[in-house]
Parts: sequence; C-alpha cells; structure tokens
Amino acid sequence: PPIEEMFNTFDFQSVARHVLKESAFAYFSSGSGDDMTMRENHNAYHRIWFRPRVMVNVSHIDMTTEMLGAQVSFPLYISATSFCKMAHPEGEKVLARAAGKQGIIQMIPTLASCSLNEIVDARVYPTQLQWLQLYINTDRQMTQRMIQQAESEGVKGLFITVDRAIVGPRGKSANDKDMFEDQGGMEKVLNHERGTGSKTLPSFVDPSMNWKDMAWFKSITKMPIVLKGIQRWEDAVLAWRHGCAGIVLSNHGGRQLDFSPSPIEILPEVIDALKREGCDPSKDFEVYVDGGIRRGSDIFKAIALGAKGVGIGRPALYALGCYGEKGVEYLLNLFKTELAMCMRLMGAPTIKDIQSDMVDTRNLKNH
Ligand code: FNR
Repeated sequence: PPIEEMFNTFDFQSVARHVLKESAFAYFSSGSGDDMTMRENHNAYHRIWFRPRVMVNVSHIDMTTEMLGAQVSFPLYISATSFCKMAHPEGEKVLARAAGKQGIIQMIPTLASCSLNEIVDARVYPTQLQWLQLYINTDRQMTQRMIQQAESEGVKGLFITVDRAIVGPRGKSANDKDMFEDQGGMEKVLNHERGTGSKTLPSFVDPSMNWKDMAWFKSITKMPIVLKGIQRWEDAVLAWRHGCAGIVLSNHGGRQLDFSPSPIEILPEVIDALKREGCDPSKDFEVYVDGGIRRGSDIFKAIALGAKGVGIGRPALYALGCYGEKGVEYLLNLFKTELAMCMRLMGAPTIKDIQSDMVDTRNLKNH
C-alpha cells in the first residue's frame, strides 16, 4: 500500500509481515518463551489513563528536549537492533540518515550489518548525534578498540547492554547466533577488510561481566556510560552509585527473559528509589525506557513518570523494511504528530510541562 495509508505505527508491522522475507520477519517480531514480556511491554501502557488539564494555552507546542546534554527534536531515539540489512540492503546507514533528518539520535548496534565507519559516515550533518550499543566481548581488547574507535569518530554515548549474558530462548525464530552465521560467520568478520568494523561475535558476549568491570569501562572512555537492560530499582541504584550517566529500563523488547516486567511498570519505583538515594533523575542521572512504545501517548506517559526519553526497536525495522528511508522518516513523523496532539489535549505545551500528576497509575500494577 502507498505510505500515506500508514495511519499509525502498527500498520507498518502488518505490511512488514507480507513484504519481508519470512525468516527476517520472524527474527524481528519474535519474543522469548511465550512472548509474555513482549506483549506486556505495550499492554502495560493501556493501564495508564490520563488526567488532562484544560484552559491552558496550547497554541504553540515545543517537543524539543535534551538527551545526555544534546538537543533533540523530540524525546525518542532509535534503539540498537542487530543485522538491519535483513530489513534493507543499506541497513543501519538508512536509520542513520532518517534519524539525522528528523533531529533524533540513533544507537548503533555492536552487531550491525554495516561497519561502524559506514554508519558514522552516513551522518547527514557533521554534528549529528549517535550512540554506541556495546556487547562486551570476552576479548577485552577488541571491546576496547571498538569503544575507542567510536569515541574518536564522535559517538557521544556508550550504552552497555546488560540483559544478554546469554541469548534468550527465542522459540519461533533463529537467534542472533544463527543470524550471525547466516551473515557470513566468524571467519568473514575476522577477515573483514575494514578491520575496525562494528561486527563482532555474539557467541563471545562475555557472561562474566559484572559491577566490578565498571571501573575498567570508565578508565578507557570519556563517553557517558548508560546501562541498557536494567529491570529492578535496586540495580538502578547500583548503576547510579557506580557513576553511570543513566540507565535504560529495558527487557530487550521481550527477547531475553520471559516474565521480565514491562519497563513502564517499574519506572515509578525506579524514580522513587533514585530520589531516596539523593539522586535527582531530572538532572543528575537519565532514565530511559524502551519496549512497546507504539503511540505518541506512550511517550507522553513515560515522560510523565520520569523518563528522559524513550527508545524504539521493531517499529523502525518494519518501517525500514517496508518503505526504506522515507518509511522511517514517515514513522518518526507519526510519533511526532501523535505526541504533539497528546501534549495539546493534555494541556502540556512543553516537555517540562509533562508532570506525574497527569497520569493515573492506580491500575498499573493490577493485571
Ligand atoms: C533488538 N534489541 C537489541 N538490543 C541490544 O542492546 N543489542 C542488539 O543487538 C539488539 N538487537 C535487537 C534485534 C531485534 C530484531 C530487536 C527487535 C531488538 C533490543 C532493542 O534495542 C530494544 O531494546 C527493543 O527492541 C525495544 O522494544 P520494541 O520497541 O522492539 O518493542
């Protein structure tokens, strides 16, 4: 169908089911176990209702905000998803361009199907912002090289994925390791001409990684460090105590441990716990959420409950696979339009006006 018939972000998934190769759609759309967490990630937003304010001047809406100190056009970023070439022959480069044109940040995956250089070169203007998602290799030198290469190429944040000590049980689809072998395997990557590419081995994700490694990370980079995959408030507090710049409440889009809670459900207790520690999550430390963000109203709810911003995974892949670059831009515009409308109807003309008393969370825990 023509792109104008994409009325919301769900429509891209319906089209992707028909357009993408079956194996690619299965890889993107699958969760782990019985998909309980994957479904819950979005469903939890249905248990949050609004408390709109009226008689507020909403003739001008300003959605701009900051992430890790950098200005963005609205509080959403494209999260890291491995092997984007399964969706489009130019893979992550297309996501880089679309993000740049829309004034938002792209998180580059360790398991990208383009090299780090290629993705960095795809920036549409020199100051365009990108972050690096990192899987820690058992070969620490390889990890160190990747971090330092990213930093020297102007990448502005290091997002270390902490919820994937091993690959989750993905029933329906091949897992990352199969995908990796599908894409050419270890040999090809080690011989990769570019040498410094962002490809590395999923089977090498180091299961020994623990809090003691934080000192090492901090010793090898000046980039702010954010832990992606925090799933309870106690670990949020530990991340703060270990000097992280922030966290992403995430369960990997429901692809790792089934029955992990939805990030939006734990967000309020995480914010409370951080405040008890004397941390001010509105300025000292940034809390992001990802998983199941499908509507502008989902973004609003997350911001109201204390998130600095939200990430999307699958929606970008589906848009990329169905309509390429213009699809991703179209998707981002849908999110923007929906968020703007929500802010108007809620009586919150700027991001700072989005407050916790605007959402009713009494049913959030009842399910
Ligand atoms: C992911 N995600 C992910 N995360 C990560 O840290 N490293 C990775 O390599 C990948 N790869 C990946 C592949 C695919 C196909 C998906 C769908 C997801 C997780 C991703 O960054 C993000 O946390 C979730 O996708 C967010 O959930 P939604 O928006 O997909 O519901």
